[in-house]
Amino acid sequence: MTQTIGLICGSLRKGSYNRIIAQALTTMDDSIEFRWIELNDLPLFNEDLEAGGDPKSVSLFKSSIEEVDGLIIVSPEYNSGIPGVLKNALDWASRPSKSSVLHRKPVGVIGATPGGLGTAFSQMQIRQTLETIQAHVLPFQKVLISQVHEKIDTDQKVLADEKTKRYLQVYLQQFRLWISNISSLETK
Ligand code: FNR
Repeated sequence: MTQTIGLICGSLRKGSYNRIIAQALTTMDDSIEFRWIELNDLPLFNEDLEAGGDPKSVSLFKSSIEEVDGLIIVSPEYNSGIPGVLKNALDWASRPSKSSVLHRKPVGVIGATPGGLGTAFSQMQIRQTLETIQAHVLPFQKVLISQVHEKIDTDQKVLADEKTKRYLQVYLQQFRLWISNISSLETK
């Protein structure tokens, strides 16, 4: 069965390494339909805005999440934490708190950095936020990509490192299974 997976990149930067990693996922399994879910148009979260009904960009963002079977977030780390644009987006998606589109959604978290710690701190915070929203975060597999600038073909803007590609392929297969397992639990 075709699964649909939404891809969120936590960086708005044009040449984002994390976007290149997310792009690499889209080439790895023809039986998955990938959909990019963008953060650029989201306003800063404000309960006053929400009280007047979600702005259009927020409604679109939420319905894009609702429509996919699972979501993979590929994000950098800023100052040992979650990038503000991503946290803002997750805060929008967390509302209303009892019926968030992320509630029970299978979610995977990946991160890449030119640094040496592979976005470990940021991923902890992303997981903590998602767990608070009661998303089903893939628990047993972490993808911490360090020295990412050495793993990218900067001319072609593609992931070039074979070991990282194989690791991402395994991750994707595990995430597919995670989606299937969660959906079979939900229907019991
Ligand atoms: C960074 N960067 C960074 N890297 C890291 O591994 N740990 C960190 O805490 C930080 N902190 C940080 C703060 C700010 C404000 C910026 C702009 C950058 C470096 C970061 O990993 C690098 O710029 C990546 O290239 C950003 O990801 P994208 O845009 O390439 O996907």
